[in-house]
Amino acid sequence: MPENIDLLNNSIDYLRGYLDGFVYPRSDQTKGIRVPDFEKPAPTGKKRISLPEPSTVRIANNDIFTCINKRRSHRVFSDSEITVEELSFLLWATQGVKSHADDMRHQHHAVRRTVPSAGSRHPFETYVAINHVAGLEKGIYRYLASKHCLVSESNPDDLSDKISAGALGQCFCGAAPVFFLWSVIPYRTIWRYGLPMSIKAITLDAGHIGQNLHLACEALDLGTCMIGAYSQSAMDELFGLDGKDEFAFYMAPVGRIKA
Ligand SMILES: Cc1cc2nc3c(=O)[nH]c(=O)nc-3n(C[C@H](O)[C@H](O)[C@H](O)COP(=O)(O)O)c2cc1C
Repeated sequence: MPENIDLLNNSIDYLRGYLDGFVYPRSDQTKGIRVPDFEKPAPTGKKRISLPEPSTVRIANNDIFTCINKRRSHRVFSDSEITVEELSFLLWATQGVKSHADDMRHQHHAVRRTVPSAGSRHPFETYVAINHVAGLEKGIYRYLASKHCLVSESNPDDLSDKISAGALGQCFCGAAPVFFLWSVIPYRTIWRYGLPMSIKAITLDAGHIGQNLHLACEALDLGTCMIGAYSQSAMDELFGLDGKDEFAFYMAPVGRIKA
């Protein structure tokens, strides 16, 4: 029997709703602690690249029935690059900020995005590893959703190989024109819901990002595959995440479907 069997047994409870008889600790919100930032600020020294308006992209499939019906995971991509308009649309579809709302009922600031999130807490940051996107240099960028732009983060050597290794040898991840990685900053959700409820909320939130990415790819005739098998330490290090307050959580390569 593994030593951590208690952890394994109790972890099932994270999937349940509020449990009768369990005394939940007060969250920081109820203690009057200030709401955390909805987005990591962008240091002024880093290069910003503005993105075209998401609506400027050429939509190949406008029919929502077809997009839902055709959706499937793709793991083989052609060598063709994708356009910056396509990248812009995919970033917007997965984490785009539509509006800011002062939530008076709960006394805090919230953002509304293209995906739902428990309590509008949106605990994710989006990073992209650019391999073949027209007009963009290879490297790792962060999506600054509030400004709809990219912030240049780093340009590691052998980026494709490192992504494939971080994805436990899934080479289609490193070979894709662009590799999306969503990190999580759990405190944004924990501030409101505390533990353990935030774990369930964060996991559910991530699913909406995955499905929006799939449907947005279908609309553009692109392919994707959600990735949950990866090395935590390798991906955290490659994307410059501290592995404590923010760590890699969910990822997906995107490319043109090979005929
Ligand atoms: C949370 C999650 C994690 C996944 N992780 C991987 C992965 O690491 N590698 C992979 O090839 N597919 C991964 N997939 C894709 C599934 O294998 C795929 O969705 C499933 O086989 C059903 O196929 P379909 O998407 O074509 O309907 C993942 C999907 C989800 C939702």
